[in-house]
Amino acid sequence: MKKIIFFILISVFALRSMADEGMWIPLYLNKYTIEDMQKKGFKLTAEDIYSINRASLKDAVMIFGGGCTAELISDQGLIITNHHCGFSAIQSHSTLEHDYLTDGFIANNKSKELTNQRLTVTFLVRMEDVTEKVLASVNQNMNEKQRAEAVGMVAGMIEKEASENGKYKCVVKPFYYGNQYFLFVQEVFKDVRLVAAPPSAIGKFGGDTDNWMWPRHTGDFSMFRIYTNKNNEPAEYAADNVPYKPKKFFPIYTKGVQKGDFTMVFGYPGRTQEYLVSDAVKQILEQDNPHLINLRQKRIETMTSYMNQSSLVRIQYADKHAGVSNAWKKWIGESRGLDRMNAVDRKIQLEKEFTAWVNADDTRKNRYSNLLNDFAQVYANMAVYNLPMDYLFEAGLAIELVRFAGNFRELASANSETSEKDLEALRQKTLQSAKRFYKDYHMPIDREIALQMLTIWHKEIKKEMRPAFFGTIESKYKGDIAKYSADLFSKSIFADSLKTYAFIQNYTLKAAKKINTDPAYIMYSEIADMYNNRLWPVYNQSNVKLDSLYRIYMNALMEMNPDKRFYPDANSTLRVAYGKVDDYYPADGVKYLHYTTLDGIIAKDNPDIYDYRVPAKLKELYKTKNYGRWAVNGTIPVCFTASNHTTGGNSGSPVINADGYLIGVNFDRNWEGTMSDIMYDPDQCRNITLDIRYVLFMLDKYFEAQHLLDEMQLVE
Ligand code: ARG
Ligand code: GLU
Repeated sequence: MKKIIFFILISVFALRSMADEGMWIPLYLNKYTIEDMQKKGFKLTAEDIYSINRASLKDAVMIFGGGCTAELISDQGLIITNHHCGFSAIQSHSTLEHDYLTDGFIANNKSKELTNQRLTVTFLVRMEDVTEKVLASVNQNMNEKQRAEAVGMVAGMIEKEASENGKYKCVVKPFYYGNQYFLFVQEVFKDVRLVAAPPSAIGKFGGDTDNWMWPRHTGDFSMFRIYTNKNNEPAEYAADNVPYKPKKFFPIYTKGVQKGDFTMVFGYPGRTQEYLVSDAVKQILEQDNPHLINLRQKRIETMTSYMNQSSLVRIQYADKHAGVSNAWKKWIGESRGLDRMNAVDRKIQLEKEFTAWVNADDTRKNRYSNLLNDFAQVYANMAVYNLPMDYLFEAGLAIELVRFAGNFRELASANSETSEKDLEALRQKTLQSAKRFYKDYHMPIDREIALQMLTIWHKEIKKEMRPAFFGTIESKYKGDIAKYSADLFSKSIFADSLKTYAFIQNYTLKAAKKINTDPAYIMYSEIADMYNNRLWPVYNQSNVKLDSLYRIYMNALMEMNPDKRFYPDANSTLRVAYGKVDDYYPADGVKYLHYTTLDGIIAKDNPDIYDYRVPAKLKELYKTKNYGRWAVNGTIPVCFTASNHTTGGNSGSPVINADGYLIGVNFDRNWEGTMSDIMYDPDQCRNITLDIRYVLFMLDKYFEAQHLLDEMQLVE
């Protein structure tokens, strides 16, 4: 009886303190989370979301490729994800004759669907709390290395056993910094075919200009289909594979959303760091972000100026520009958000409370009184190595030629024991990578970026923390970085595609010297050397130390707040986030509505701005108001914002209403809220969802793909 009262008390306290922050473990929703979800409008049960006894929503959600989420939307294996998640698949099928990036793609029947070499989707079959088993293998006397080895060994055994001789892909992952461990048993499908993609001018509308921003008008979706063997099991591609018959798929709700409606996002968030100590947040804010932002800004400016002058260069650098600018813009938003929230002060405040709590009890004093000092010391040690590490990647490997030269390390290390067959395979492999490289390489951009990177690097990083070629610049070039940088491009063989092709094709062991003395390859090797032999070993010692400090700290925080529901940091495992459709006030005197429409797309239309060119056919549909059954107040809904806590990896995640129906596809966050990876602000943090009605409208009116609408279950 006492126990019951105790539990009720806990859940009342737990529910009281909650904003929409949190990414919850589907297996443990029953604890308190589901009650809170239901209180906020959710009509399903925890079993409906995750069950191993019957079909549940988790059977309709998957990891798409490497880092996105997708969901099933028909009983014939049809799935939807973002355009930016399907981008490389779409691009790989695009040629000048069939330019699906520009024109979009739609398979008019299943035989027209396009196969994708390396694309897989991964479902969660079940998860299991294996904390006890894993922790039974460790004890207090072990150091971090021994602990990691012990954990690794048990985890390996658990994974092996659960894999049922390779039928499943299994992985054990730490949660709460290794205070808890879960096993994930997964099934991987390998025959995934492209079904539909809008033109980039719709799927990427707004491009990097609008990326991370609201109001947003991007039709960020693409569709694929999972194929299996005759027994509905995963199989390698085969022409006679058949569409997957899923246990569960999402019905699609066609009536849309209102402000305040319950929403849930079910997907694979990649990485958050919500429990960092103040020293760490300070380091991100004062060290990493300003440098990373500055370096990337230079690259982006250079790329943009060349892209504006040539449409070929624009195509060549579109993807690189998008990649470089995505993180750049996110860091800017993150820093602003952390500043605005006084994140460091808040962390310091929490640490004060923590210290007071520790000091109030002798056992706690024994266990925790050094903790915050230890953190401070480790972060102080790391501060010395942090930026030098950042520069290796963000300045050194920002030089495309240097990165490319690194592809020759395998050829360079072939020796008399390498068989002619293996050598030939290496030649072919290197040749392929060279072809990919030169197709999208514009040397003037790289040359300009190289000089910028080297100059900033030289200015910002102490001599002994820079790779050896800076010594060469001092000694052989009398400090003339420009001369050194110019020589890099005039003397490296890799700057010349034809010479490089010939070099690879005629490669013999004797030619290794030519690689080893090439200036670009030397730079690559010296960067690698600095990393492997100088920076990483010390840096990693701090990392290992941090692992153990955070494990203790996390545990102590939970002990200090027994009533609080803690969610584990994102770690690319399936999570539930929930919140509501909501608008926000991004700045004093400014309010943003929670939705956008086709009218806004037309308002942005500008043939002179690449990111804002609206396809003629969409403009035609707008002009004739040819909206069919999808019109809402005389227009078409496009995107909406809600307060679900999401991060990278949640792209493509299903956004679900109170009845468990699909209302949209998650694809971004707002700029004001990107600090949510470190600190969530309920007033500012919004996820951005593509309204499913825009997808339905596109399929119906733009593609006239009635056959796809027919196979979905539309809920009116
Ligand atoms: N910001 C979104 C995400 O983090 C979309 C990125 C793709 N779009 C782009 N314009 N780069 O993945
Ligand atoms: N666009 C991100 C992704 O690809 C999701 C946006 C976010 O970071 O929240 O996963």
